[in-house]
Amino acid sequence: MTTLIDPAPAFVDVEEAKQRLAEHGYLSDDRLATTVFLQTRLDKPVLLEGPAGVGKTQLALSLARATGRRLLRLQCYEGQDETKALYEWDYGKQLLYTQILREKIGAIVEDAADLNESIERIAKQDSVFFSERFLAARPLLEAIDSEEPVVLLIDEVDRADEALEAVLLELLSEFQISIPEIGTISAKHLPYVVLTSNNTRDLSAALKRRCLHLFLDYPDAARELEIIRSKDTGLSEALAGRLVEIVRDLRTLDLRKAPSISETIDWARTLAVLGVEELTSDVLSSTLNVVVKYERDLKKALDAIPKMVDPNAVVPDSLHGHGHGHGHGHGHGDDSAHRDANDDVDGKAARAAKDRPGRHDRGYYGADNKLGPSREVSAGQGSRSFSARKRPV
Ligand SMILES: Nc1ncnc2c1ncn2[C@@H]1O[C@H](COP(=O)(O)OP(=O)(O)OP(=O)(O)O)[C@@H](O)[C@H]1O
Ligand SMILES: [Mg+2]
Repeated sequence: MTTLIDPAPAFVDVEEAKQRLAEHGYLSDDRLATTVFLQTRLDKPVLLEGPAGVGKTQLALSLARATGRRLLRLQCYEGQDETKALYEWDYGKQLLYTQILREKIGAIVEDAADLNESIERIAKQDSVFFSERFLAARPLLEAIDSEEPVVLLIDEVDRADEALEAVLLELLSEFQISIPEIGTISAKHLPYVVLTSNNTRDLSAALKRRCLHLFLDYPDAARELEIIRSKDTGLSEALAGRLVEIVRDLRTLDLRKAPSISETIDWARTLAVLGVEELTSDVLSSTLNVVVKYERDLKKALDAIPKMVDPNAVVPDSLHGHGHGHGHGHGHGDDSAHRDANDDVDGKAARAAKDRPGRHDRGYYGADNKLGPSREVSAGQGSRSFSARKRPV
C-alpha cells in the first residue's frame, strides 16, 4: 500500500484562507472561507451549488493557485463515458508496440503446435500490455495517482449520468481506484476536491453526504462591488457602485435568467470601453444585451430601467416592447401619453408572458425541479469496482 504523505496544512485559519483566496482572485465571505478551510482540514470534498456565474468554478481555480496545487478538471456532460473520467487503455500505443515488436511476438509463437497454443502463449503476455505503461489516466485517476498534491475540480456534476455519480461516490470516500488488470491505486496525496452543480437534476443524498455542501448565491452589494473592483474593469468606482445596484434591481424582476456576477463584470467592461461617464437610462438600455440574454427578459428589463435610474421617470407608451433600448428615459412633457414602466413589469400580463423555465431559473432551486424524481444511487452502481479498503491515514 502506498504511504500517504500529509502535506503541511494549506491554511492556518479561516482568515488566512480568506486572505490567500483574495490574493489569488477570489473574494469570499466568512461562510465560504470557513468551508474552504474545513475542506483542507477534514479532507472532505466541497459541493458548490448555485446559479450560473456566481463563482463556483472560479473557487476551484483560485484554491489551486492559493495552495500552489496543480488543477485537474473533469468537465461533466450527459452520456459521458466513465473511461473519459477514470482511465482507458491506450490502444494506439499498444498497437504501435505490437507492430514494433512483431518479430519478438513472432518468436514466441514460432514453434507453437497449433492456433490454440499460440493464443495461450500470447495470453501469457497480457500483463505486459495491460500494465501502467499503457494506461491513459483521465482526471480522476490522475488526481489519485499524482506525485504532487492537486485540486480536483469536478465541474457541473449534475450533468453527469448516475453511473458516473456512483463511480464518484466510491472515489470520494475511499480516495482509491481499483483497476482489475493492475490492482488498487491509492491516493499518494489527498486531493482537494471541488464539485459544482447548477442543479439541473437532484444529486443523490449519498453524494451530498460525502461532501461539505455550500449553496452559493449572488453576493451582497458590497462584495459584488469588491469583485468588480478586483477585475480592473476600467469603470470608475462611483459608476461601478451604481451599476451593481442596477443589476441587483434587475435580479428582482423575475427574469428567466437573472444577471450573474460574470454579467455585471461584462457590463462594467462594456461601459468602460464605451467611455461612459453617467449611467443614463439610454446608455443602460442600449447595452442591456450584455447582461440579459432572452428576448422576453430584455423587454421586461427595458421597461424597468428608466424607473431604476430615476424613480420619477415616465416612459412613453410607444416605447414599450421595442426591445432596442432607444429613447428610453426621456420625458416629453405629456404625462397623459406615458405610463409607469413598472405597471407592466409587476403586472399580470408580464408574468403570464414569462418564458418557459430554462436550465437556471425556478427549477434550478430544487423545490420546483421538474426534471425527474430524486434519484438515489446505490454505492455499487458503477460498473467499475472499487476496493472497499479504507484509505491510508
Ligand atoms: N467571489 C468571487 N471573486 C472573484 N471573482 C468572482 C467571484 N465570483 C464570481 N467571480 C467571477 O465571475 C465569473 C463567473 O464565475 P464562474 O465561472 O466561477 O461561475 P460559475 O458559478 O462556475 O458559473 P456556471 O454555473 O455558469 O459555470 C468569473 O469571471 C469569476 O472570476
Ligand atoms: Mg462553472
